Amino acid sequence: MTVQQYSSKSLSPNGCPVSGLAAGFDPFRGPYQVDPSSSLREARAEEPVFYSPELDYWVVTRYEDVKRVFKNPDEFSATIALEPITPISDEAMEILGQYAYVPDNSLVNEDDQSVHRRLLAEPFGADSVATLEPRIRAVVNSYLDRVVRMGKADLVDDLLYEVPCIIALIFLGAPDEDIEKVRSLSVSQALFTWGRPDGEEQSRVADTFGRYWQFTGELLDKVKADPNATGWMAHIFDMQRQHPDLFSDNYVQNLVMGGIFAAHETTTNATGNAFRTLLENRVAWDEICANPDLIPKAVEECLRYSGSVVAWRRRAIVDTTVGGVKIPAGGKLLLVTSSANRDDDIFPDPDEFDIHRGNARRHLTFGIGVHTCLGATLARLEMKVILGEVARRLPHMRLVEGQEFRYLPNTSFRGPEHLLIEWDPTANPVPADRP
Ligand code: HEM
Repeated sequence: MTVQQYSSKSLSPNGCPVSGLAAGFDPFRGPYQVDPSSSLREARAEEPVFYSPELDYWVVTRYEDVKRVFKNPDEFSATIALEPITPISDEAMEILGQYAYVPDNSLVNEDDQSVHRRLLAEPFGADSVATLEPRIRAVVNSYLDRVVRMGKADLVDDLLYEVPCIIALIFLGAPDEDIEKVRSLSVSQALFTWGRPDGEEQSRVADTFGRYWQFTGELLDKVKADPNATGWMAHIFDMQRQHPDLFSDNYVQNLVMGGIFAAHETTTNATGNAFRTLLENRVAWDEICANPDLIPKAVEECLRYSGSVVAWRRRAIVDTTVGGVKIPAGGKLLLVTSSANRDDDIFPDPDEFDIHRGNARRHLTFGIGVHTCLGATLARLEMKVILGEVARRLPHMRLVEGQEFRYLPNTSFRGPEHLLIEWDPTANPVPADRP
């Protein structure tokens, strides 16, 4: 469908007709689910900001426009970031009420969060995060030890499903007995907040979401009762003691529930995308196996080319324009960062995967501006260590041919549900302790 074809039926809220391209946009199925950045190639060229009646959102596809929105918190509010994109049914609301769930701010959906952010930031700093590297490496190798002699594995089930979760729990200071629970509950948060669950599914997901809320409360109780607790949750309680007016119990519970999700789901997906991309571009994979110093640059190119957060949201506070398009106050915006990351004004030959690209780090996968991802240093370190250890121990692995990659249908969180690999187990796999 081309942008010249206009639907006579609908007008966007600024009074302009809705084009065929805009009317056909559906982020929950079809081309966006296959590859969000490629699905918006035509939009980037012809209609870079458009109104989607299906979503009731303005979709922003070009780099400079996405960046401008992120960088202008006085014009664009972050309060919409965690709102369920599919309106919640009465039944689902009732279920959430039974769990006494009360939504609140939690940094990422908070305007003017700078005081909270400053008080909460210390454990995310480069020095604190660097102390986790040996533990990350040990966890990764303990998982690889289980599979290196098997000749085949599912990189998601056998490694990426749990490792970032364990690291997240270590970072948060939680006991790792709860991994399986955290993982299954997190998937429901992605569907609940960024997916299109139908009525029955929404009620089921609301129930899981409620249990996630309850679980977070119990986890916080455990940490609060432990005088030797360390990690981000212990730090939050320290801040709560020092600034009780700034940290209500409900705020803390919302913050930690969001934090658990933010800390691992994103990284599991990002690393899954990275392995898929590198193995589909064998020359790049062979290069990093031969020269692991290339891995940090490869990580940035993977985050640009196939990031795990593909779109983020803002709401216009005032009447404004984005890319020359009038957006009325209250207008909701879907900032498709994965599309911005393929903008040829910024990244020459954007559809080429090139681990030597000079400016890959300018990608917008972590956002930019006052809310830019606090966990980016940890995420980068995890990805570097996981890629490095797998490249060292299984350089000869390859993707199983003919497999179909599946993704959870939603606007924003993207990573393969499974990633099947195989290798020759007699080809002398490197043991964990050999450099
Ligand atoms: C590859 C992995 C990750 C990606 C792609 C990612 C992406 C993002 C994005 C897009 C935002 C919102 C930016 C904005 O609104 O401008 C964000 C915020 C945030 N992320 Fe991440 N994230 C990742 C890993 C992590 C990890 C590992 C943690 C925690 C350990 C974390 C904690 C946070 C927090 C606390 C915020 C809110 C910051 C604020 O609003 O001030 N993230 N992240």
